[in-house]
Amino acid sequence: MTPYPEPVNLADYEALARERLDPGAWGYLAGGADDEITLAENVAAFRRLRLLPRVLVDVSRVEAATTLFGDRVSFPVLLAPTAFQTLAHPDGELATARAASVAGTIGVVSTMSSYPLEEVARAAAGPKWFQLYCYRDRQVTRRLVQRAEAAGYRAICLTVDLPRVGHRERDLRNHFVLPPEVRPRNFAEFLDLEGGSQQAFFEYIQALVDPSLTWEAVDWLRGETQLPVLVKGILRPDDARRAVEHGASGVIVSNHGGRQLDGVPATIEALPAVVEAVGGRVPVLLDGGIRRGTDVLKAIALGAGAVLVGRPYVWGLAVAGEAGVRRVLDLLRAEVELALALAGCPTLAQVARDLVIGGSPAGS
Ligand code: FNR
Repeated sequence: MTPYPEPVNLADYEALARERLDPGAWGYLAGGADDEITLAENVAAFRRLRLLPRVLVDVSRVEAATTLFGDRVSFPVLLAPTAFQTLAHPDGELATARAASVAGTIGVVSTMSSYPLEEVARAAAGPKWFQLYCYRDRQVTRRLVQRAEAAGYRAICLTVDLPRVGHRERDLRNHFVLPPEVRPRNFAEFLDLEGGSQQAFFEYIQALVDPSLTWEAVDWLRGETQLPVLVKGILRPDDARRAVEHGASGVIVSNHGGRQLDGVPATIEALPAVVEAVGGRVPVLLDGGIRRGTDVLKAIALGAGAVLVGRPYVWGLAVAGEAGVRRVLDLLRAEVELALALAGCPTLAQVARDLVIGGSPAGS
């Protein structure tokens, strides 16, 4: 029995997760880079935007479903890839995959998952995407893509904002190291996860990350797979345009949840210019700072096809495993549906630009 009152929103889950996790794991989950300016801005920028609802619209039926690359999602919220979910709960990515499946949405499985990608794929029915870093060793990268394809993943998200790992000071202060049972299991075929030291595999992973990566990697990846390739970590309109020119099937406006370059804008502030640059050629998704159904509405109004949440579902996972993730997604879905009704939008198609006051493309 939980001694806590039933959480009624995502922030309640954050508070509960913080109490339950040890300080090292909490710091890793919650933290951002440097002064955490961007981390805070991701949330604050949503709060600055105002909604302008339309009244006397028949909202007796509200439909939040949408379609991404042929797969229906019951509402426009996906689960962003987050590494090492067994830090939060022993069931980790398996629980998350099951909860996403029950919610009728898509979970993006991190390359750094603490269960092998095949096991996560088998844990639950329903479409899943795989998040990839393009490694210095293209054979390793190719192998991961092939395994993701074979396991039935429906898209690849290539994360491009991590040529080096950001400066996460909470982890430094906490001397955070992964507990021995938490390992990047997708790499079991490439290195000794059990016998090897923590230092050894961190060095291995660090050495895998390719700081010399250029747009050529997107071309290369497209040649490797028939799956849609989304480029995750775009903030600039010219980069968004380039991603489309290099054949990306989608763009994810993301600053890695404020964990990489501190001082970059909130994703909701970067979104309008990216949407303008992409010009409807491919879907534009967004993650970073989504904590309310109204945040989802604001992002859709400013041109996102869907959004992803990262930390919030991990809070749910930490509090109650699969049930916690399900509850977080249920809460968010209820908020999205209520926001749609109150804004006079029976479907996502009615969520137009003029629903939001402010939020013009930067510089215009
Ligand atoms: C992440 N993120 C991330 N992104 C990615 O492409 N691969 C990864 O392995 C991870 N790992 C990861 C771990 C943790 C603990 C966090 C918090 C984030 C970034 C993630 O996909 C997403 O961009 C942000 O989490 C979105 O911001 P919010 O929803 O957490 O505010």
